[in-house]
Amino acid sequence: MSQRKLRIIFTSITCVDSAGAEFIAMTGCVTKTYWRRSGKHSNISARILMSDPYASHMEFLIKHCSRAQVILELGCGKYSTPLFLNQKLFPEVRLVVSVESDQEWADKVMAANPDPRLELVVVSEPFEDKLVNMNLSDYDLIFVDHATDPVTRARTIEYLARNVTTSRVVIHDYENQEYRDAAKGFPHVLIDGFRTPHTAMVWK
Ligand SMILES: C[S@@+](CC[C@H](N)C(=O)[O-])C[C@H]1O[C@@H](n2cnc3c(N)ncnc32)[C@H](O)[C@@H]1O
Repeated sequence: MSQRKLRIIFTSITCVDSAGAEFIAMTGCVTKTYWRRSGKHSNISARILMSDPYASHMEFLIKHCSRAQVILELGCGKYSTPLFLNQKLFPEVRLVVSVESDQEWADKVMAANPDPRLELVVVSEPFEDKLVNMNLSDYDLIFVDHATDPVTRARTIEYLARNVTTSRVVIHDYENQEYRDAAKGFPHVLIDGFRTPHTAMVWK
């Protein structure tokens, strides 16, 4: 790489705002939106894009959900859980209830996120059996990213489409047609199809 290119990249990095810097520190990803913030250097973004596909939902969540206060997360992990608990990126979060089916995975995530605002609930699938005892309108954001098989997740999305009233629901891997079909009960949808896996927000 030429010295001139290196200099331009360095200049761009210094132009990233504090939320962008936090995002990059958390994920190691430099994504288009944050590069765009550096204005005239945006043309170099594609060349140095280092996007982890498993983190494709992160930027969407920051952009559209950062004012969330009470979050229901279906499927915990190393990306969304610490993201919601990050006080710079999600400054208003008071509670994250995370529903998880894998005890070992839940223990790891809990150990990595010692935060009194995190409540991890381990239940076996289907999660609808747990959701039926919850008041979904207590949550302003419901993030759907659980289950190893798409049919199970699609059933949860169908349940949410029938029962959610006020919450915004964000669904990861939305390129999956089963999830799109399952979410048809939501009249509104906002899809980020730029990154794969896709992320969408649905609401009534
Ligand atoms: C896509 S992951 C959830 C990711 C999480 N929402 C995040 O953004 O970090 C879906 C499920 O895979 C299971 N899982 C088990 N071991 C895992 C691992 N090593 N990495 C990721 N997911 C794992 C968990 O049950 C988890 O809920």
